[in-house]
Amino acid sequence: MLQIYDSGYAAQVVADNKIPEAEPVDEPDPEAPMVGEVHKNVQVLTDLNVLEFSRLMQAMSTWVAPEQGCEFCHNPNDLASDEKYPKVVSRRMLQMTRDINTQWKTHVADTGVTCWTCHRGQAVPSGDWFRHPGEGENMQNIIGNRFEQNIAGVQAVGNSSLPYDPLSTYLNTEAPNIRVQGVTALPTGNRQSIRQAEFSYGLMIYMSQSLGVNCSFCHNTRSLAAWDQSSPQRVTAWYGIRMVRDLNVNYLNPIAPLLPKFRLSAEGDGPKVGCLTCHKGVYKPLYGQRMLEEGGHPELRGPVVRPPAEPASAAVALR
Ligand code: HEC
Ligand code: HEC
Ligand code: HEC
Ligand code: HEC
Repeated sequence: MLQIYDSGYAAQVVADNKIPEAEPVDEPDPEAPMVGEVHKNVQVLTDLNVLEFSRLMQAMSTWVAPEQGCEFCHNPNDLASDEKYPKVVSRRMLQMTRDINTQWKTHVADTGVTCWTCHRGQAVPSGDWFRHPGEGENMQNIIGNRFEQNIAGVQAVGNSSLPYDPLSTYLNTEAPNIRVQGVTALPTGNRQSIRQAEFSYGLMIYMSQSLGVNCSFCHNTRSLAAWDQSSPQRVTAWYGIRMVRDLNVNYLNPIAPLLPKFRLSAEGDGPKVGCLTCHKGVYKPLYGQRMLEEGGHPELRGPVVRPPAEPASAAVALR
């Protein structure tokens, strides 16, 4: 189960995965008041004292808006005001980050994530995605229905002829079964078809590209289905798929109405998270460097208050 790396590509990716210097940590001060005693409109970070709170505000500026700084999220004359949308979105992002670090340890382990993992100094992180709008209707009349495939130049599926939107199918809802291989001699049980297999392969190519690995990072290719011959990383990836669905359904989709129109797709769809948003071409985001330890930002493991549950979204039927 060999991995093949292109040395030029690897050098570029190493350069892209530096972490910024941590903010200096203040001397512990038992007299420092809690945020609630000083600030008026703190809803998520209520467990911090004012020193920890300001240090995190500094770090968030570096991670998300290094050029604009505080003013990207705040009216400098009234820091308590929620008039700027990036502040309102950031509150949800803080909840999401804490949620990932405490509820999804099956995937992120003790490494965890910060805003930097996705944002890397940009308001809009690379590797977010939208539903693929699909083809014009008239194409169907002229050349028949392409069934969402055989289109050149769709990067998510490695420019292959596979269905071009496996992400909406599998990473935005409680999706249909990704497994395609029959486990019985006769076609009973799970619904296998070549068509369904093509959707699964599209997703697998996307996952491989996002992590910068070959199929054999997770599978023994003599039997792609067999778990007892797969690497432990495949299990981590299984949890990763469930985590990404959870993040999109409970955080990213509800955030879409808070964003200005120019952040949405032409069809009005909101931006979503995928494997690439965190991994950015590496098997572990930032090569597994930890930012949540002492001296970093352990407060991003703080208590989680999940937003109210969305009504369960209906499973996408395979078209
Ligand atoms: C990426 C967005 C973002 C940036 C950049 C940012 N903040 Fe904040 N700020 C927030 C959010 C979100 C809250 C509310 C947190 C909560 O509800 O738990 C907040 C709250 C505050 C508050 C509390 C105000 C009150 O009375 O309720 C202060 C003070 C503050 N920020 C200062 C700063 C300073 C100073 C900077 C620049 C060094 C900064 N912030 C940069 C998002 C940001
Ligand atoms: C798992 C990846 C991920 C993490 C972690 C994450 N974000 Fe985001 N964030 C996103 C995505 C995806 C969007 C949607 C991009 C857009 O707005 O077009 C977004 C949008 C935002 C926006 C709105 C930007 C704009 O101008 O539209 C802000 C502000 C923001 N995040 C702040 C934060 C802060 C602060 C943290 C850390 C507490 C954080 N994010 C953690 C993925 C992430
Ligand atoms: C990062 C790990 C990872 C990589 C890389 C990966 N896979 Fe997978 N693969 C999985 C996981 C996890 C599942 C099971 C998904 C589920 O059930 O939710 C799976 C399922 C499959 C299945 C369905 C097996 C069955 O039970 O019917 C096939 C086929 C497959 N992968 C092929 C590939 C191919 C081809 C590649 C390379 C292009 C690849 N995979 C790359 C993790 C990976
Ligand atoms: C919120 C950010 C985030 C997202 C989104 C994410 N991952 Fe991860 N992933 C991580 C972190 C952090 C680790 C490192 C955990 C550790 O140190 O063991 C990791 C580790 C892994 C590993 C184990 C690598 C190893 O060498 O042990 C695999 C495989 C993996 N991710 C696959 C995926 C797949 C596939 C997806 C998309 C379905 C995905 N991840 C989405 C953050 C993320």
